[in-house]
Amino acid sequence: MNLLKANNLSHSFDTELFSNVSLQLDTKQSIAIIGLSGSGKSTLLNILATLLSPNEGEVYLFGKDVSSMSAKELEQIKRNKLGLVFQQHYLFKGFSVEENLEISSILSGKDIDLELLKSLGVENTLEQKVTELSGGQQQRISIARVLTKKPKIIFVDEPTGNLDNVTGDEVKKIFFDYVNEEEAGMVLVTHNEEFAQDCDIVYKLENKELVRVK
Ligand SMILES: Nc1ncnc2c1ncn2[C@@H]1O[C@H](COP(=O)(O)OP(=O)(O)O)[C@@H](O)[C@H]1O
Ligand SMILES: [Mg+2]
Repeated sequence: MNLLKANNLSHSFDTELFSNVSLQLDTKQSIAIIGLSGSGKSTLLNILATLLSPNEGEVYLFGKDVSSMSAKELEQIKRNKLGLVFQQHYLFKGFSVEENLEISSILSGKDIDLELLKSLGVENTLEQKVTELSGGQQQRISIARVLTKKPKIIFVDEPTGNLDNVTGDEVKKIFFDYVNEEEAGMVLVTHNEEFAQDCDIVYKLENKELVRVK
C-alpha cells in the first residue's frame, strides 16, 4: 500500500534548496536521505511530515493530497498515523518516564508497550525522572514515546547523533523491526552510512536535486 508520495516538490528560503523532488514510500519500506549539512534534508523531511508546506508540489498521505485535507482531517492523521523522531522534540523533563509515555498513550488510545521498552532497554526506568537519565536513555525514551502510538509512517532525523555505536545499532534494529512488524514505513535522514545503506531505498540530496543512489 502507498503510504506517502511526493510529487515535484520545490522549496526555497533565501535561496532555492531543492526542486522537482519526487519519491514514494510503501508499506514495510524504508527510505534514507543523505547529503551534506545544509543541503535541505531536514527541510524536506519537515515537508514530507506536513510540518511545512512546500513552495511547489504535492504531498500525498495514504493516497490523499495533503493540501486538499481539512485542518481537522490533517490533525487526526498527524496524531494517529505519523510519528516524528526529531532531536528537538524534547521530553517533559520534570516528569517521570512513565508520565511522558502516558501522554502519548492517552492521546492515541494505545497502551504503553512493555515489549517495546524492553527492546529499547529502558523497561526499568519508568519511575525515574527524565533528568535522572543519560542522554542516550532519554533519546530511547523519546523513540518509545513516538512508537507507543503505533504510527504508520515514522519520520526520523539524525537518530544516532548522540548515541554510541552499540546503542546506535540497537536503535537501528528497533526502527527496522517496527517497520516490519507494524507494516509501517520510515523516512530517515542520517549521517550514518551504515544505517542509510540498510534502508531499502537511499537518496542523496545534492546540487538541489534528490538523486537515488540505492
Ligand atoms: N525556517 C527556516 N528559515 C530560513 N532558513 C532556513 C530555515 N530552515 C532551514 N533553513 C536553511 O535552509 C538550509 C537547509 O537547512 P536544513 O534543511 O536544516 O539542512 P540539513 O538538514 O540538510 O542540514 C540551511 O541553510 C538553513 O539555514
Ligand atoms: Mg538537518
